[in-house]
Amino acid sequence: MIVCVCHNVSDRRIRQAVREGVSSMPELRAELSVGTCCGKCHSCAKTVLRECLEEGAREPQPVLFQQAFAA
Ligand code: FES
Repeated sequence: MIVCVCHNVSDRRIRQAVREGVSSMPELRAELSVGTCCGKCHSCAKTVLRECLEEGAREPQPVLFQQAFAA
C-alpha cells in the first residue's frame, strides 16, 4: 500500500526503514521524505510506524550462538 503518494513511499518501505533503525517520525521524514510535501500522509505514516515498532517489540530477540551455549 502506498502511504505517501508525493514521494511514492509504501508501507513495506517504512517497515524496511524501521528494520534499519528508524524509530520516530522525524527520522522517517529525514530518511524517506514522508510528509514533507502536502503532509496528507502524516497520520497514516505515523500509524504504520507505530505498528512496526510494536511488532518489533513483540518479536523474540535473536539469541547469539555463543550466548545460547555459554551457560
Ligand atoms: S502524500 Fe506524503 S507528503 Fe504528500
